[in-house]
This record gives sequence, structure tokens and C-alpha cells, in this order.
Amino acid sequence: MIDFKQLIANAVYDESMGLEVDEIKSWIEIPADESMGDYAFPCFRLAKVLRKAPPLIAQEVAERASGSEGFARVENVNAYVNFFIDRAFLAGQVVDEVNSEGDSYGRSDVGKGRKVIVEYSSPNIAKPFHIGHIRSTVIGNALYKLYDAVGYDVTRINHLGDYGTQFGKMIVAYRKWGSEEELAKDPIKTLLAYYTKFHEEAKIHPELEDEARETFVRLEAGEPEETELWKKFRELSLAEFNRVYDMLDITFDSYAGESFYSDKMPRFIDELREKGLLVESQGAQIVDLEPYDMGAAMITKSDGSSLYVTRDIAAAVYRKEHYDFYKCIYVVASQQNLHFKQWKKVLELMGYEWEKDCIHVPFGLVSLSDGDDIKMMSTREGRVVFLEDVLNTAVQKTADIMRDKETQGVDVEEVSKEVGIGAVIFQELSNNRIKDYVFSWDKVLNFDGETGPYVQYTHARASSVLRKAAEAGVNIDDLGAIDPKYLESDSAYTLVKLIYRVPETVVEAADKYEPSILTRHLVDIAQAFNKFYHDEHILVDNEDEKLAKLALVKASKTVIANCLGLLGIKAPERM
Ligand code: ARG
Repeated sequence: MIDFKQLIANAVYDESMGLEVDEIKSWIEIPADESMGDYAFPCFRLAKVLRKAPPLIAQEVAERASGSEGFARVENVNAYVNFFIDRAFLAGQVVDEVNSEGDSYGRSDVGKGRKVIVEYSSPNIAKPFHIGHIRSTVIGNALYKLYDAVGYDVTRINHLGDYGTQFGKMIVAYRKWGSEEELAKDPIKTLLAYYTKFHEEAKIHPELEDEARETFVRLEAGEPEETELWKKFRELSLAEFNRVYDMLDITFDSYAGESFYSDKMPRFIDELREKGLLVESQGAQIVDLEPYDMGAAMITKSDGSSLYVTRDIAAAVYRKEHYDFYKCIYVVASQQNLHFKQWKKVLELMGYEWEKDCIHVPFGLVSLSDGDDIKMMSTREGRVVFLEDVLNTAVQKTADIMRDKETQGVDVEEVSKEVGIGAVIFQELSNNRIKDYVFSWDKVLNFDGETGPYVQYTHARASSVLRKAAEAGVNIDDLGAIDPKYLESDSAYTLVKLIYRVPETVVEAADKYEPSILTRHLVDIAQAFNKFYHDEHILVDNEDEKLAKLALVKASKTVIANCLGLLGIKAPERM
């Protein structure tokens, strides 16, 4: 794509300035006020070398640069040289490029040859996959897609919470009160019920706790009977999680969760001891992080069993040795900030310099607004909303809205899935991830707000314009060379500029681990498209004008679909 900063730098360059072209490029600014141009080159710092007043330098630079390709005007104002993009030139470039690149517009290869790991979702097995998990799942999936789009070689890991003393309890409970049949019907809810029952019974029969501990020790030792049961619980849970992943169209390359590291930990406990980092505290082994204001990281319990942070240490080293990552990204709630700080500190103290390439990407809480009609289930931890129920409700509500609208020629069953689930995903990715937010159906499913349905609807609208043109005999697949002078209006220019900035926005969203940067840009594109659609007649009599405008509609449709895709959302042709 055309690089305007490069064009400016080439035009500004003069030997007398004592600056390389790249340096000039780095000085270029984007004025906040559009009336000052699309780009500005400041001349203050040249005063010394050139022994002239900055405004005079600006005047000379403007004279030298005016008439250069890509710019309609070059003006000097005080110490600045302002560059105004030639609208038709930009429109021609952008439309041609998008329409020739198609699906791959927005992608780049800045990360080529580098490995990135994105760890996300990571629910705990035999526990509800609830609405709180949606954030890690959806943000992580978007980050995977963004890193993939900018050329990294990405591995997706679901670090399942599939280990720990609770499995001792679950096994005991299942043996005492469980049945295979019951379990098969509704695994997670049933396991949860066993687990709850265990806690109730243990109040009266505390010896159950000992039995559970012993059972977990047998599990850690790999005893076949316990292992068999644990495997069964894991498989049943995973089957339930996979139902949700299928609805979201999300996959993973690895499900190596906490249990995967159970036999890899002794090495690190030895290593911590050798490096003099372990301290005994009430029978447990800890790393004292008080000097860093981070409390203590508990490495092994008094009974010798390992802990969450220990498994994370083993996981990080394993990943470094196995994948040799450039970056390892952990998409985990901000409630675990302390855990991740402690864990990074321990890795640093162990001398693993690459810990700086392990990035915790935190996010805020999601809560439910009062009176939202959604199924809740009570558990020991409180009332829980299953993610699957949220997604099903979204689909059903969308289908109701669509039926009310009596949309013609639309496969409501199929499209309501794409729109309902897309709406939930979009909402997740709309705000800065660190913010807490309140889930509300009115906001999620509003077809006119800054929502998924609004953007998808815009895509369907663009598709419909193209369909109409095709019915009238236009060859939409090949619009030929267009005359961009028909794309100079304010609304066309705003749209073109936003489309032009998509590739850099994708890079920025990936760099900042912030999919909302792309989501917001996409809303801007949708709004700009709708303004263009309302302001202008597209299917006009003048053939050249019609083709130019259709080319912009087609580019807009492509870009909207590509960006939705990067967020993990479908782009229906009709809705
Ligand atoms: N299973 C954990 C939970 O549900 C999240 C795991 C996060 N990842 C990690 N490497 N610690 O809270």
C-alpha cells in the first residue's frame, strides 16, 4: 500500500538538511485538526543546521515538496509544512488494493519467522464453564487471530485447570454417591452436585477430607483406578466445553493443562532449592517475595503436593524449551495479577531472562445487570450463569428480533446463530479490556448501536447493493479499472481513509494486546459506510461513476468481513 510518510520524506529530503530520509520520516506528525492537513512536517529542529528561522525553512520545504505525487496541496503554516492527500489518488490506491487482495487485506508479515503462544480460556474441569470465562476465551481468540494476521506463527494453548486436590474430593464423592448414568446425562452439573455434597457431608464426617487427600496422593502417583476416574471427568468436561467452543468457532492446538506438568515439577523444586530461593514456612516451601512487596509464593504444601504457581513455572519453562517462543501471552483475569507478578518474579530470580517475554494480558470483570432474563444456577461459589446458556439465549433473542422484522430471503436459523453469537463476542471486544463491564441484552443486541449486529448489518447492506448491481448486469467480480475522481466527496474520503488505516490498526491492536482498537475502528468504518450510503446515490446512470462507487462498496464489504473475521465473528450476506 502507498506509504504517504515515505512520499513526504522523499519530497522533503535535501542534502543541506543533514538528515536521512528515514529520520525525516520519523519526524512526520498527524495533525489533530484536519484543516491543517493529513500530515505535517515540523521544521523547528532544522533551524540550527540551516541557520534560518523555522518559518522560512518551512516555506522552502513547501516549495520543494509541492506538486509531489499523492498530494493535492502542500502548504507552510508557521514552522510546519502541511500535506493534504490527493483524495482521488488515495481512493484509487485503496480500492484497487483491497479489491485485488480480498481476504488478505489487512494482513502483513511483520512477525514472520517468530513464534507466539497465546494461552486463553483455560477453564477448570468439572466446574461450570460460566459467563466469567467468556472474556479470556474471546479476547484470547481475537489475539490469536491478530497475531496470526500480522505474520507470527501462533500456537493456541488451553491451559485447562485439570489438577489439584479437588479431584481427590470428586473421586471420593463419585464413589460414594455417584452413578455412571447420572454423570453421562449432565456431566458438569452432576460433578458439581457431587462436589457440593462432599462439602456438606464433610462437615459431619471430617474424616472424608483425609480420604480425599489420600485419594489425590494416589492420583498424583498415577494409580490406575484413580487415574481412570479422573480421565473420565476430564473427558466429560472437555466434551461440554467443546460444545461451547464449537458455537464460538474456537479451536486450540493444545489442551496441555495443569495436569500435564505434574511430573515435570520436581526439577524446578530442586532448582529453586539449589539456587537458594526456597524457604520453609510452617512446613510449606515458599519463595519469599517480601523484599519486592509481593508477599510469598507457595511452591509446595506441607504435605508435599504442588501448587498453582509451581505448575505455572513448569509450564513456562516447558513452553520455552519446547516452542522457543518470542512471546508467550497469558489471557487471564486481573484478579490473578498478584499470581502473575509473583510467578514472573520467581522466574526472574531463577535466572530465566526470557520471563520478560511472558506477558500477562489481564482483563476486568463482567457482571450481570438486574432483571436480565437469564438462567442462573446456584453453586457453592454463588449463582452461576453458564456460558452455553448465554449463547443460546443470544441466538434465540436474535431469531425473535429477526422474525419481527420479517426479513425476507434470510435463513433465520443459520443467521441468528451468526448474529446472536457475534453480538456477544463483539460486546466483549468493544471496550478496553481492563474495564469492568455490565452485560446487558439491550446493549448487546441493539441493531443501531455500536454493536456486532450493527456492523454485520452494514456488511449485509453492502452485500445487498452489490447483489442489486449484479442483477442489473454489472460484473461485480471484476469492476475493471475505475476512475477515482468520483470518490472525492467528504463521505467517500472519510471511508477511504479508514479503510487505508486497517493494516496499521491490526498491527497496533496486536502490539497492545487490545482487540478493542480494531473493534472501534470497525465501528467507525461501518458508520462511515452508512454515511456514504445515505449521502450518495450509488447506482447512478453515469456508468463510470457507478463502477467507481461500487468498487468502494465492494472494498468496504471486504474490509468489514476481514475485520469481523479477525475478531472471531461471522459476516452474513443477508440479515
Ligand atoms: N484455570 C484458571 C482459572 O480458571 C486459569 C488459568 C490461567 N492460566 C495460567 N497459566 N495460570 O482461574
